[in-house]
Amino acid sequence: MARVILVYGSTTGNTEALAESVVEGFKKGGVNVTLKNVTEADVDELTGYDLIVLGCSTWGEGELQDDFIEFYDRMEGVSLAGKKSAVFGPGDSEMYPDSFCKAVDMLEEILAKCGARIILEGLKVDGDVESAMGNAEAWGLKIAKLL
Ligand SMILES: Cc1cc2nc3c(=O)[nH]c(=O)nc-3n(C[C@H](O)[C@H](O)[C@H](O)COP(=O)(O)O)c2cc1C
Repeated sequence: MARVILVYGSTTGNTEALAESVVEGFKKGGVNVTLKNVTEADVDELTGYDLIVLGCSTWGEGELQDDFIEFYDRMEGVSLAGKKSAVFGPGDSEMYPDSFCKAVDMLEEILAKCGARIILEGLKVDGDVESAMGNAEAWGLKIAKLL
């Protein structure tokens, strides 16, 4: 079975809640996921998985969620060649139209730089995350079916 890790960074709990729904989707697809807060994750452990899923909210004006910054910096130069990957995150297009879910784009870019292949378009959740739980689960299930 494919080894899957999901690493998320979350300040107010929204990305964490989405991460749990994504994991539910994987479970429905028969795939187990190692779920980790980025504060407990190490970049080096990514190489032990076939699929890397990253979840991160956007803060400031188009910045990564605080806890994710160090992890992102440490990804620079790491080889993830042959790995599959996908990224999700919440944001707010009404308040931050110019930097909506920028963290998702940033993480997709660094994953590609590391040699990983993005296997599904990033999930950008706009505004209220409660109403997006079904979408997050469906997104996870869709990826599980691609493995
Ligand atoms: C001070 C502040 C800055 C934010 N900046 C952005 C931003 O630049 N782009 C965006 O899409 N969302 C932005 N947001 C919205 C957050 O990404 C959103 O509230 C998200 O759900 C928080 O997720 P978390 O609880 O997992 O950290 C901002 C929110 C706050 C309070």
